[in-house]
Amino acid sequence: MTESAPKPGSKRVYIKTYGCQMNVYDSERMQDVLRPLGYRAVDAPDDADLVVLNTCHIREKATEKVYSELGQMKKLKQRSGNRMTIAVAGCVAQAEGAEIMRRQPAVDLVLGPQAYHKLPEMIARVHRQTGDRLETDFETLEKFDALPKARRADGPMAFLSVQEGCDKFCTFCVVPYTRGAELSRPVDDIVLEARNLAAQGVRDISLLGQNVNAYHGAGPALEGGEDWSLARLLRHLARIGGLDRLRYTTSHPRDMDEDLIAAHGDVDALMPFLHLPVQSGSDAILKAMNRGHTSDHYLDIMRRMREARPDMALASDFIVGFPGERDRDFEDTLALVKEVNYAIAYSFKYSERPGTPAADMFGQIPEAVKTERLHALQAILREQQSAFNASKIGQTLPVLVTGAGRQAGQMHGRSPWMQAVHFDGGPELAGQIIDVRIVGASLNSLTGQLPMAQESAA
Ligand code: SAH
Ligand code: SF4
Ligand code: F3S
Repeated sequence: MTESAPKPGSKRVYIKTYGCQMNVYDSERMQDVLRPLGYRAVDAPDDADLVVLNTCHIREKATEKVYSELGQMKKLKQRSGNRMTIAVAGCVAQAEGAEIMRRQPAVDLVLGPQAYHKLPEMIARVHRQTGDRLETDFETLEKFDALPKARRADGPMAFLSVQEGCDKFCTFCVVPYTRGAELSRPVDDIVLEARNLAAQGVRDISLLGQNVNAYHGAGPALEGGEDWSLARLLRHLARIGGLDRLRYTTSHPRDMDEDLIAAHGDVDALMPFLHLPVQSGSDAILKAMNRGHTSDHYLDIMRRMREARPDMALASDFIVGFPGERDRDFEDTLALVKEVNYAIAYSFKYSERPGTPAADMFGQIPEAVKTERLHALQAILREQQSAFNASKIGQTLPVLVTGAGRQAGQMHGRSPWMQAVHFDGGPELAGQIIDVRIVGASLNSLTGQLPMAQESAA
């Protein structure tokens, strides 16, 4: 078999994505790299020529999942007469690439998050059975420079990575080790990518970064090339025709500046939703986590956000059972949650990650205590989330229609606050922003009606 002049779509690639939105973006970019080699994406691994597991290392469970999935893939590979190529990408690949190859010999190649542009070359090496099959160097900009400029949009919403890596070194977290030092892409590259997406009908873009509000990319060369902040970048992107909705995730409280808060008040395209993880409400725990902010500082940002944009919905991440967390620290977390009143939040039991400072701290918390605290926290968060969704009943919201719903005659879309909205309607509405009257709400979604449907029902 030769790699030259491939027939479009003649080979099948199955990519399974774990972890954060950054990995979702990277998986799409891997498809862009593979398309010229004749690969088309498929939904199941069974007959795939190439399987890519894009992995996450954030908690122990996430990592273990990869090894059990690889066991399954090994069986499929054997069934294919060993024709199937198995690649492991993402943060587990970066953190323990050599270990993966040792534990699962069926794996053909391992590549870290900065090496995706080298995928074609590595596949060729596997077929020739020569050369290195482990690629985990850090060269972030080289990756962005070398990825194909054109992206294929998939629906009216898209992710766009603007920043990668992290220099914060929270004591529980592996990201600074798996994604490397903080690095921002140049403005010109981002604008080009955004325009390209808008030209394909994308109307809602989420700018991504592990610390997206630490963004400080080089401005346009024509304007002297001085660094731009995230607020400046957002104001600029808001002027691209067709881009009606902009979001950014995930932010860090330490990098939340005045200009960014102000932008929420005066940039219409900036959606009224902020995911700003706090992790804990206890200052003692925040200090041990090396978060670099107090709970008061965080609450102050939330207050100013709501001043700038009264309909602002707030989201967060929490870790319970961090080493040394006492009952009263956990109570501080519950108090903070009650004070902020979240639209949505993600909460996790602390997971010990080898090589991070917290793994060696005294006062590791028993599993049963972590479970109990997680349940208590999630009960309140669920109540807040349900109440937030229910508060939209009776309102007419602009909904970006993203595609067909599960049932015939049903469509689904997203509200400005990222809530999933289901309503009866036809496929001709896909990609439009339309008014939908909200008539029902549950923990995870809203149901609505088109105004016309109500008139005819009346
Ligand atoms: N860069 C983002 C999020 C990174 S990871 C930020 O700084 O907020 C996503 C979430 O996973 C974190 O917000 C945290 O709540 C959780 N997380 C990270 N490491 C963890 C660990 N060791 N155990 C449990 N949860 C963890
Ligand atoms: Fe991890 Fe902290 Fe960096 Fe977020 S800011 S990626 S939690 S080290
Ligand atoms: Fe997981 Fe890596 Fe994202 S560890 S959360 S996939 S940055």
